[in-house]
Amino acid sequence: MDERASQHPELTTSGPQSPAQGPGAGNALPLRMYTGLAPWFHLLTAPADYAEEAAFYWNAICSAGSAPPRTLLELGSGGGNNASHMKAHCRLTLVDLSPQMLALSRSLNPECEHLMGDMRSVRLGRLFDAVFIHDAICYMLTEVDLERAIQTAYVHCKPGGVALFAPDVVRETFRVSTDHGGHDGAGRAMRYLEWTWDPDPDDSTYLTDFAYLLRDEKGEVRVEMDRHQLGLFARADWLRIIRIGCGSSAAPGLSHGPSPSCTARSGPESRCFSASSLARPKEIRCPGGSIGSSEMTAWWPVGLI
Ligand SMILES: C[S@@+](CC[C@H](N)C(=O)[O-])C[C@H]1O[C@@H](n2cnc3c(N)ncnc32)[C@H](O)[C@@H]1O
Repeated sequence: MDERASQHPELTTSGPQSPAQGPGAGNALPLRMYTGLAPWFHLLTAPADYAEEAAFYWNAICSAGSAPPRTLLELGSGGGNNASHMKAHCRLTLVDLSPQMLALSRSLNPECEHLMGDMRSVRLGRLFDAVFIHDAICYMLTEVDLERAIQTAYVHCKPGGVALFAPDVVRETFRVSTDHGGHDGAGRAMRYLEWTWDPDPDDSTYLTDFAYLLRDEKGEVRVEMDRHQLGLFARADWLRIIRIGCGSSAAPGLSHGPSPSCTARSGPESRCFSASSLARPKEIRCPGGSIGSSEMTAWWPVGLI
């Protein structure tokens, strides 16, 4: 048995789990985009638009580790948009809570392994060179859930492996905002309005309300609404929770530092965080130039386990 697996017996005992609750389990209502509306997801956000972003994450992971990963686990892999680009580099295992989103991703990425599981609790019984949690980490609404997701990343990471956590925002970069977009597909099309706000600045969540305009093959248009509750944590809380999630003795090298080449995308405040089980933490550098979705985040908490 692998040393890490023997330290974490839960790794060897259970496979992917049936989720007790649906995607974004802390949300009061089921998230329609990840359930009934999942077949529309690629018209909300198209895989082709992720090329630059996925390259950024891949480079961040590679520069954090000693060698490019050969195996990568993505938790909360959604429509498989990042995966559709990352799969050129390594073998991907994609885990999501939503069977509908897994089906969509499978249609885009048939060569990748797809498994249903909750990032807070899934235990696959094997280790990966790298673990990646992109925007799905924002569905962790409490520190406890965030810690559980980080711990899931940790127990699936080979010693010296890399974990990358990329939330859309941290508390310091949160802004009330609106956005809109959408895409035309084969015979049907979608446009959306996204409205982000924070009804209670004292708690650890914010809301994004969506209005979707869905035009079907007959040219008929309907409107659907969706409310997503998302987690909001300060940078210092991220660092503290990553340290706890990795076990304090396993992550002595948690640090953050400037990442000068990020400035084109995220302004002079750019930083990347890293946490390392190795004696010396490594600074994550990101490639220069702007990234497709410049609003995504100015800060990238990064866990290097
Ligand atoms: C915005 S989508 C991710 C899109 C993804 N970044 C991509 O490249 O396509 C968010 C996903 O997180 C999933 N999710 C939410 N809570 C989860 C949890 N506790 N465990 C696993 N997946 C979860 C949802 O089902 C949804 O598919």
